[in-house]
Formats: sequence, C-alpha cells, structure tokens
Amino acid sequence: MTSPTTEKRKADHIRINLEEDVFFKKLTSGLEKFFFMHQAVPEINLAEVDTSLELLGKPLQRPLLISSMTGGTAEARHINRTLAEAAQITGMAMGLGSMRAALEDPSLAYTYQVRDVAPDILLFANLGAVQLNYGYGLDQCQRAVAMIEADALILHFNALQEAVQPEGDGDFSGLLGKIESICRQLPVPVIAKEVGWGFSKEAACQLAEAGIAAIDVAGAGGTSWSQVEMFRAPTKRHARVAGAFIDWGIPTAVSIQYCHQAAPGLPIFASGGINNGIDVAKCIALGASVAGLAGHFLRAADSDGVDGVIELAETITDELRIAMFSAGAVNLAALTKTALHTEF
Ligand SMILES: Cc1cc2nc3c(=O)[nH]c(=O)nc-3n(C[C@H](O)[C@H](O)[C@H](O)COP(=O)(O)O)c2cc1C
Repeated sequence: MTSPTTEKRKADHIRINLEEDVFFKKLTSGLEKFFFMHQAVPEINLAEVDTSLELLGKPLQRPLLISSMTGGTAEARHINRTLAEAAQITGMAMGLGSMRAALEDPSLAYTYQVRDVAPDILLFANLGAVQLNYGYGLDQCQRAVAMIEADALILHFNALQEAVQPEGDGDFSGLLGKIESICRQLPVPVIAKEVGWGFSKEAACQLAEAGIAAIDVAGAGGTSWSQVEMFRAPTKRHARVAGAFIDWGIPTAVSIQYCHQAAPGLPIFASGGINNGIDVAKCIALGASVAGLAGHFLRAADSDGVDGVIELAETITDELRIAMFSAGAVNLAALTKTALHTEF
C-alpha cells in the first residue's frame, strides 16, 4: 500500500502550485541577461525555419518537454492524460511525476499510464535518486520504466527539497556508485534531473562519469520548491526554514553553461523558469537540446485542458520560430552555433 503521506504530498503539490505564488522572488533564470543579435538581412525563408529534432532516438516536432510533475491520485491521472494527449498531437516529449506511489501500491499504476493516448511520444519515467539509499535498486527502476512503457528513466535530485520537508529523506551519501550501477544495467538511458535549483559543474562532471545519458538542469528562476514546501510546512519553524531558501539555487542559464562545459557530449535539457519561445531559443544557443516547462503546462492543462496545452505549445513554437528567423538560424543545428550577447 502507498503511504497516505506519499499520496497527500502529491495532492498538496498540485493544489499549492495551482493556488499559491510559488515563484522565486529575486533570483531569475538569468536568460533575460542574454540576447541575440538581430539580423535585418537573415537570408532565410520564414516558412523554412525548422524546429524538429531527434532526441534519444525519437523524433520531436519541436524542442519542447512537458517536465515531470505528477501521478498517484485520480486528479493526477486526469492531468497526466491531458498533458500526454497534447504532447502526442504536438510532437513534444513528456516526463511523468515521481512514480514512488505506484511502486509502493501497484493499483496506482493507472494514474501514470498514458501510452494509449500518446503512443509515439518520447516518454520518461521518474524516481527520486535518493530512493536508491532507501531500498530501491535496479528492480524498482525496471518496474517504473515497464509500468509506463517509458523510453528513458529520469532520476531526480531534490536534496534541498528533502531537507526542508519534515518527512524528507536526507541520506544523499554514496549515491554515485549506485547510479553508475543502474546506468550500466538498465536497458534504457538514465537522465539526471534537478527540480529547480540547478546542477553545478562538479555535479555535472560526477554524473557524466557515472554514465548518465542526459542532464535536465531544472535550474532556479521558475517554480521554487522551497516556497512550495513552505506552504505545506506543519509548523512555523518548518515554514521559516523552507522560506529562507526561496532564492537559493543556480539560475537556469548558468547551469546550462556549467553542464555544457563539464559534459560537452551529453544532451542537456533546459528547464526552470522557461517562459516563452525566446527563452527556448536562448537555451538552445547556450547548449541545450530541448527546453522543459512544468508549472506553465500544469496551469494550461488545469484551466483549458488539452486545447490549452496545445495552444501554449504552439504559442511557444511561434515565438521560437520567429526568434530563429530574426537571429538568422534556419534550424536547431544553426541555432546551436548562433552567438548570444550580453551587451551591445
Ligand atoms: C506540481 C509539480 C510537481 C512536480 N513533481 C516533480 C516530480 O515528481 N519529479 C521531478 O523530477 N520534478 C517534479 N517537479 C519539478 C519540475 O519538473 C521542474 O523541474 C520545476 O518545476 C521547474 O520547472 P518550472 O519552472 O517550469 O516549473 C514538479 C513540478 C510541479 C510544478
């Protein structure tokens, strides 16, 4: 049986993200500090600007990812299926939320399963890396992947979130060896992901050496998880401690550069505070392959269902295409080579 704590936590996270101000207060993604040189003579046909790519062996129509969010409750099932249906129609990748609830109670597997509405998408299973210190191993990773017919497994690193949760799992010691063993034995790629505080150069280096296939930076600047945990803190002291970390973390733009420098061969997913297609273009020019959004897709799904998620994906793609056109990049390979500036 899943513990009531796991299920309640997932329900709290959705409610708080939909109802409260959960954003960083001063710290930003850092993307606003970069700009493209405007090319008044782009020598490109706008109609030929191509946003497609291949990632981990699967085609995507656009470099967009619905970041890992939820599962484990009936409401979460509805959200997951809404997001997945939109991902299938628009050719985006998608991650499911942490699947611990369904490993503890297999009757909850249906809240994560979306393959019937999204047979073709690049789909990621998700588990907390720290669970490898709390009884999880290859078996649980394989079960998570098989349960949703995933193409890859995301292991999320949420040390600060666990630290500010009264019920959190704080033993992050000795994880790298266990991750190396999972990477070696799991038949699908393993992706390391933060949850909103970013990876340093050192962390990216350690993960690359452990055999990780891609890194999702999930940097600071969007949803602040210390803020989310502050809203569900059981005591004033817990709330104050969580609130103290509201502007902690590595801005997304900085973490992309750190990961790109530390692990130049690895695909980088840019997420954390991505707000529009110009942000996406900047992330790719900084070295990312795709950009992920969590909170924005959740709110679109909640207010306008599948159509709302499609509308958001199309809007971001329009912005991305126009940014590419105006910067003189006809496709994503050219965008990767396009310089970003910090001053005129
Ligand atoms: C409601 C909600 C639940 C989340 N649950 C998970 C999770 O289970 N696993 C995970 O790796 N990240 C989780 N995240 C973190 C996101 O995937 C993402 O890294 C983070 O919110 C930053 O992206 P954003 O600024 O676009 O929201 C969650 C985010 C939201 C909004």
